Amino acid sequence: MRHINNDGHDGHDGHDGHNSKLQVLIQPNIGLDSDVRHSVVGILNNTLANEAVLTLKTRSAHWNVSGAGFLELNILFNSQYEQLNDISDEIAERARMLGGIAIGSLQEFIKYTRVEEQPGVVPDILRLLADHEASIRFLREDARKCTEEYEDEGTFELLVSVMRLHEKMAWILRSYIENEPIHGESL
Ligand SMILES: [Fe+2]
Repeated sequence: MRHINNDGHDGHDGHDGHNSKLQVLIQPNIGLDSDVRHSVVGILNNTLANEAVLTLKTRSAHWNVSGAGFLELNILFNSQYEQLNDISDEIAERARMLGGIAIGSLQEFIKYTRVEEQPGVVPDILRLLADHEASIRFLREDARKCTEEYEDEGTFELLVSVMRLHEKMAWILRSYIENEPIHGESL
């Protein structure tokens, strides 16, 4: 196991063949102060936890789908699961680009998620839709913070792209359960 000490050095004592004295973390010199990078990595890890929970819930929906529209919903949930999986990769990579550690354990995902876990419940379209919409609201606020408070345009753009992906998935899920729009009906 690799531990990072407060002095930024790897915690190995050399018995595994690594010389800890040679392993120094190089802080990114990219125009963002370390406290800003720390705060933004926190936002990214919260986002990663949301994505992990929603990814798993979407996968559960895919595994357990039944009834009318089985095949189509089976394919839809699988495609959304894969998209969520891919976007998590980009969020984790950004945490590393900012000098942070991307969380990657179930305990941490549960600790940091703002999307509710529901053990014993197979998520239906309405539940997934509500989770996407909650994620969109969090992402909108987090993206605003990244640009206005932290001036990190790179993370801002990533979070906006994640938000747009959720907006699209939410629209597709909503379309399955809403009636045909009445011509001329206002929002
Ligand atoms: Fe499958």
